[in-house]
Amino acid sequence: MTATDDRILGSLDGLNPDQANQVHAYFDLLDADSRVVPDVYRWTAPLPGQVLTVPVERYVSRAFHDLEVEKVWKKTWQMACRVEDILEPGQYVKYDIAGISVLVVRQRDGSIKAHRNICLHRGRQLRDVDGRADSFQCQFHGITWDLDGSLKHMPCKWDFPTVDGEWPLPSVKVGTWGGFVFINLDPDSESLEDFLGDLPQHFETWPLEKRYKQVHVGKVLRCNWKLAQEAFMESWHVVATHAQLLPGLGDTITKYDAWGNFSRTLTPNGVPSPHLNWAPTEQEMMDAVTDRNLDEPIKVVVPEGQTARRTMADSRRKHLEAEIGAEAAQALSDAEMCDSMPYTLFPNLHPWGSYNRTCYRFRPYGNDPGLSIMECMILSPYEGDTPPKGAELKMVEMDTSWTTVPELGLLGRVFDQDDANLPFVQKGLESGAIDEVTFAEYQETKIRHFHLVLEQLLG
Ligand code: FES
Ligand SMILES: [Fe+2]
Repeated sequence: MTATDDRILGSLDGLNPDQANQVHAYFDLLDADSRVVPDVYRWTAPLPGQVLTVPVERYVSRAFHDLEVEKVWKKTWQMACRVEDILEPGQYVKYDIAGISVLVVRQRDGSIKAHRNICLHRGRQLRDVDGRADSFQCQFHGITWDLDGSLKHMPCKWDFPTVDGEWPLPSVKVGTWGGFVFINLDPDSESLEDFLGDLPQHFETWPLEKRYKQVHVGKVLRCNWKLAQEAFMESWHVVATHAQLLPGLGDTITKYDAWGNFSRTLTPNGVPSPHLNWAPTEQEMMDAVTDRNLDEPIKVVVPEGQTARRTMADSRRKHLEAEIGAEAAQALSDAEMCDSMPYTLFPNLHPWGSYNRTCYRFRPYGNDPGLSIMECMILSPYEGDTPPKGAELKMVEMDTSWTTVPELGLLGRVFDQDDANLPFVQKGLESGAIDEVTFAEYQETKIRHFHLVLEQLLG
């Protein structure tokens, strides 16, 4: 250890010495940084040891899925789209969650409203796909609602004696943070602000509202939505699933924290995994993990006497200069430039911190507990006050490689490796051979935290 524990903003209470050692190893890297590292890296909140096993039923049962619909999807704030998906008045996104459909609509005054995507007459969904409209006319008999959900036109109104008053579309609560548009189907829910808690503070240095969705790719997976996202909530599967990354990824040196409704991991890049039984060169460390986030050309040469971590940071700072200005880019620490920092906001949003650009979302696919949809967004900085239009969702066909989408860079190969496990995890769980799934106490902090919040909602 190179410094006292004053460097830890928070406490390691509850961690055993082996677990605490991983955190200290990460702090040693922060101490060696070439720049001042923002305090957010030092904020420390390990999760006490609750929820170490959960019933398999959570991943395989339709009854449990139905409970989630009632207690989670109909009750909690969830990311429906990006602000830049609906820049123009009348632009709307059709957000689907577990059989429920919502239209998120840009209004003429620039505000955003959301309504249930359903005609009040006989129930046809008003829109089948995203688009732009002056009003929402039902394609069945032509009843029409305005962008704000108020009734605009009703053919043969004289024939509906039971319809009186305004007959507006059922409205859905909307809030925004970080360029994300969130909706909540529960009119009595807490505010989005209360739900997010301190999360916005964590992103103050790298405001996500100053990003736009440059790439948006999705794929239907043969597994439960929780199982899919849990594959992205810990770094320790790297040892078996992404072994090619080990020369340049400090997988077990990861710091895990949880607060309120969100959690995060901090995994150092440009340093070797403690799992390795050989010593990679600095160039091998570099080559193992570069180009994962479209941040540099594939080959970055480590100069003689320089470390991979410092070279990686210098290369990314240089690359960022064009987007955020030389001064801002050069002030960013090695940790900000190199380390993987995926946050998870309950229930399903995974924005990465700093300039890693990656953001995931996982949802059930319809009401089948054995299917889910995974999406990856690349959120890039933009110049000026208005973001460019967000990229449209490009779906990778089921059972097809993510590498068919070149925009994902090396992420495509990494996702294929993650995907390769998932249907077999689902099959294993559906076999009924075990009743419970068991979590690692520290390295699976984020997953345990997710289930803790889930259990609070289930009551
Ligand atoms: S179902 Fe929509 S107008 Fe009849
Ligand atoms: Fe992975």
